[in-house]
Amino acid sequence: MKKRLIVGNWKMNGSLAANRALLEALRSGLDSLRCAVAVCVPAPYLAQTSQLLSGSDMAWGAQDVSAHEAGAYTGEVSAAMLKEFGVRYCIVGHSERRQYHSEADGLVAAKAQRALELGITPIVCVGETLAERDAGRTEATVTRQLAAVIEENAPRTADIVVAYEPVWAIGTGQTATPQQAQHVHALLRAQLGAAGGDAAQIAILYGGSMNAGNAAELLAQPDIDGGLIGGASLRAPDFLKIIAAAL
Ligand code: 13P
Repeated sequence: MKKRLIVGNWKMNGSLAANRALLEALRSGLDSLRCAVAVCVPAPYLAQTSQLLSGSDMAWGAQDVSAHEAGAYTGEVSAAMLKEFGVRYCIVGHSERRQYHSEADGLVAAKAQRALELGITPIVCVGETLAERDAGRTEATVTRQLAAVIEENAPRTADIVVAYEPVWAIGTGQTATPQQAQHVHALLRAQLGAAGGDAAQIAILYGGSMNAGNAAELLAQPDIDGGLIGGASLRAPDFLKIIAAAL
């Protein structure tokens, strides 16, 4: 069985002092990890995070990467820059970037490609809005989003992580039921399998109001391999409980 993966997405939260307290609490709260754990932090905190987590079993990642290699792209951060800070994972296509920064499927696929080129594992986010779910377009939406990444990165699909994050469940306290999530995860795994990869080995995470209380039930589903956690990853006791639920 593949190892489970629990990833914290701090989003645009943190400070040097708060990060130190959180990361030190996580380090001392984890003895030996039987599941993989990572935190995806704002880019300016990668140096601090790499210092505080080096020598631990925890990995760290970024929340975005430029689709360009280098050059006149003000404000962007390249995959090569992330690599210099020991980044193992990079979230791409989070719904907040699709929604507030107009990121389309093609751009998300290109970002995944840049990460893969540098040996960084892209965590590819897909998920439907409430309007899309209500219109019966959940399956069409998530498979379209994933197809773009598969087409661009076909031979390397086995090296990605997928995160199913229903937009209506993010930051709302309204979690997808384990059955709703399992249904979509199975669909995504079948799509990955049809693309030729060993889909059983690809981690598919659930994200959207996952917390210490609901993690175990979600993680008990056969196709839910881990979690991408926002709010609860900012509180060490909650994040540690989610990690414990994944062991
Ligand atoms: P919440 O856990 O705060 O709902 O956020 C989920 C998410 O967007 C993780 O990427």
